[in-house]
Amino acid sequence: MLKPMPKEYELKAKAVAPANIAFIKYWGKVDEKLRLPANSSISMNLSNALTETEVFFSKDFTCDEFYLNNEKMLLEESERVIKHIDLMRDRTSYKKYKVKVHTTNNFPKGAGIASSASGFAALTLAVSDALKMNLSEKELSIYARLGSGSACRSVPDGFVEWKKGSDSNSSYAHSLYDPEYWNLRDIIILAGEKSKKVSSTQGHAIAESSPFYLKRIEGMERKIKDLKIAFKHKDFNKMGTIIENEAINMHAVMMTSNPALIYWNQHTLKIIDFIYGLRQKGIDACFTIDAGPNIHLICESLNQKKIISNLKKELSSYSYIVNKPCRGAYLIK
Ligand code: PMV
Repeated sequence: MLKPMPKEYELKAKAVAPANIAFIKYWGKVDEKLRLPANSSISMNLSNALTETEVFFSKDFTCDEFYLNNEKMLLEESERVIKHIDLMRDRTSYKKYKVKVHTTNNFPKGAGIASSASGFAALTLAVSDALKMNLSEKELSIYARLGSGSACRSVPDGFVEWKKGSDSNSSYAHSLYDPEYWNLRDIIILAGEKSKKVSSTQGHAIAESSPFYLKRIEGMERKIKDLKIAFKHKDFNKMGTIIENEAINMHAVMMTSNPALIYWNQHTLKIIDFIYGLRQKGIDACFTIDAGPNIHLICESLNQKKIISNLKKELSSYSYIVNKPCRGAYLIK
């Protein structure tokens, strides 16, 4: 006997997902459309940079609608979100159902925290649950990747590796360690970004134009191995050296692309100098930087207080957000 169709009001779901900070970065793709990366990457989920997404599907809705922080988005702003939903909806028996998507971020717009990773991870989980797709963590990570590459790393818990794979089915993220494994902190120090001038999607597309790009990719497997060893021994200084070098390496590729992508501003250098100063005082801290000017100061929890008191003294005009490692995407029932 055929299973009865669920009533419309059953076709809804709510999910939360964290943003993540990459310690080994993804910059450059081998397949634009499938968002297959040129190298594997490693990241940590961020407890204080969360997206919550609720979806409702109904036969009675006449069009798809996307609300961000309670504001209805225009058609062109919704396009990437709706395209992602289509990808999933088309594989179910609810092809004719239209959707309303409500998304809120707990971090302010313009804080320079990319919302695409948390956004597409939360959206993927909410849609899959509402449309009863019964996906495994691996499948969720693959779908999230198709929305935004780094979103695949916001699906599993804690410290995560995205294996580049060789095709769509083998390119997904898995958890290396639970959030409790290592008491690290990511203190995001905001360097005054309004909104990103060049999106990461555009940036990935020109990465290859840098003369340093291939050299960067060549060294990746070694770097990943070394970072895994540092993690195994919880060797903070070794980890710090690797991730700082890695962030500067990625920005060297960005700055030497054609056209040049310079994400740093004068505050970025000032904050780096502050971190060098901490180390001179014997306080262990290191940094990484995403596709923007903000500094992610990484430290162990035992140093958090000391670092924040130095920050308040030396960089009192800068805002900051403290993050712990956290679980990946989850449903709210
Ligand atoms: O997933 P995207 O297209 O937003 O690219 C992410 C790029 C970086 O944040 C700079 C690096 C990374 O691996 O997260």
